[in-house]
Amino acid sequence: MSTSLKGKTAVVTGAAQGIGKAIARALAEAGAKVVISDINGEGAKSAAAEIGHGAKGVACDVTDVEQVNTMLEDAAEDGAIDILVNNASIVPFIAWDDVDLAHWRQIVDTNLTSVFIASRKATDMMRAAGRKGTVLNIGSNAFYAGTPNMSAYVAAKGGVVGFTRALATELGKDGIRVNAVMPGLTESDGVKASPHNEAFGFVEMLQAMPGKGQPEDIAKVVAFLVSDDAGWMTGQCVNVDAGMVRL
Ligand SMILES: NC(=O)c1ccc[n+]([C@@H]2O[C@H](COP(=O)([O-])OP(=O)(O)OC[C@H]3O[C@@H](n4cnc5c(N)ncnc54)[C@H](O)[C@@H]3O)[C@@H](O)[C@H]2O)c1
Repeated sequence: MSTSLKGKTAVVTGAAQGIGKAIARALAEAGAKVVISDINGEGAKSAAAEIGHGAKGVACDVTDVEQVNTMLEDAAEDGAIDILVNNASIVPFIAWDDVDLAHWRQIVDTNLTSVFIASRKATDMMRAAGRKGTVLNIGSNAFYAGTPNMSAYVAAKGGVVGFTRALATELGKDGIRVNAVMPGLTESDGVKASPHNEAFGFVEMLQAMPGKGQPEDIAKVVAFLVSDDAGWMTGQCVNVDAGMVRL
């Protein structure tokens, strides 16, 4: 069995770099027509050019309802998209003593409310077009681990878990599947440029298997979950973290 996404249209948010870019590549290589959306429009366009397979790069801030609605309408050339991957995120490193309301709101807006905004529009379009699409949210195993220096982020990712389960329940009757992938520490562009990069040694001790998680490790699981091969899976939050968290 090899995953095929031929004939499907997919949107991946926050896909100019890191895990999102690897997801966009995996979906495009599986045959999907992919829209790479990111607040960094130039980065999205160069990621699309690098990936090829007809991928398109567009500028879009996931916290802005109008930008998201327009981006999804433009992506849906025939009424709806088939696959929405809510990946865009700010991954902060900030001690509890420095967390204020402005930070909390920024992180919840970018990492949780954005998931609602894009899912609202995409699933409305899917149902109007009679399309059995799928929504895939990127969570984090930090939700289970209660990782330090990211309290607002951990809370937002917990919201993503709850939302994934609730939306799956409500949309199952329409044949729309909603799942999440929960990465462990992954060597993305964002992590490499942040203090999280220092945590690999510690995290490796907690993993069942040694090694540093790579964006491609996450992307392969996403490609499976959004494919028809996972047609009997919905409402699931799948950990991809070398067995660090065992549920
Ligand atoms: N890397 C890890 O260790 C790790 C672990 C667990 C979960 N995750 C999750 O994986 C996903 C990708 O993380 P990453 O490490 O690749 O991140 P990254 O920082 O490398 O990339 C994030 C992307 O999101 C974009 N973005 C940020 N704010 C945006 C906005 N308002 N609108 C649109 N795009 C925006 C950025 O421009 C960037 O291209 C995130 O959901 C993150 O929470 C990552």
